[in-house]
Amino acid sequence: MNLLHIDSSPLGQHSVSRQLTAALISRLQRQTPGAETVYRDLSAQPLPHWAPPAGTDTGAALDDQAVLDELFAADVVVIGAPMYNFSIPTQLKAWIDRIAVAGKTFRYTEKGPEGLVHGKTVYIVSTRGGAYSAAPQMDFQEAYLRQVLGFIGISDVRFVRAEGLNMGAEPRAAALASANEDIDRATAVALPLGDRKAA
Ligand SMILES: Cc1cc2nc3c(=O)[nH]c(=O)nc-3n(C[C@H](O)[C@H](O)[C@H](O)COP(=O)(O)O)c2cc1C
Repeated sequence: MNLLHIDSSPLGQHSVSRQLTAALISRLQRQTPGAETVYRDLSAQPLPHWAPPAGTDTGAALDDQAVLDELFAADVVVIGAPMYNFSIPTQLKAWIDRIAVAGKTFRYTEKGPEGLVHGKTVYIVSTRGGAYSAAPQMDFQEAYLRQVLGFIGISDVRFVRAEGLNMGAEPRAAALASANEDIDRATAVALPLGDRKAA
């Protein structure tokens, strides 16, 4: 099994999403001995804003291809995704702009767009200063990620959520406890690798 571990928070060791993606990845590794893990840190090695390739800019094209190759090779993807201004950090958006590629990860047909990426499970580790579970109309982070991943064909999108992190000590502790319960639940059952191979 191949795991793809992606972090995007610029907050280094203070980042909650980084702590939670690391915990989830290490649990998935323990659950599946021999799993290979590829790590991409979108903050330490940021992808530039997407732009059309310049004539001689082979470096950018290689980076773009590497991002796509990593996605296609992965069985399970874990993405650390803080909420920034109701949406996602620009570092993560630059990655999304590399994986939504017409002709590669989706195509337009007479019946509309069709996703081309199949047989993957994606975990979104969602961190938020405030709380949005009761106000989904303000959430352009989880809803956006579910939408764009679904658009390229990935329908198995699961969330590990820590929200209310900046609302005081008690809500923060509750958020972390709840996210750790999500991780327990996520790793309580083996991943459906049989389905994945058939996809
Ligand atoms: C630039 C910026 C924008 C933010 N925007 C929001 C927001 O719109 N809603 C919210 O609930 N929290 C917001 N936050 C708080 C973060 O979501 C929260 O601190 C979270 O823990 C960040 O994840 P991290 O700890 O992995 O970096 C923002 C933080 C920053 C730095």
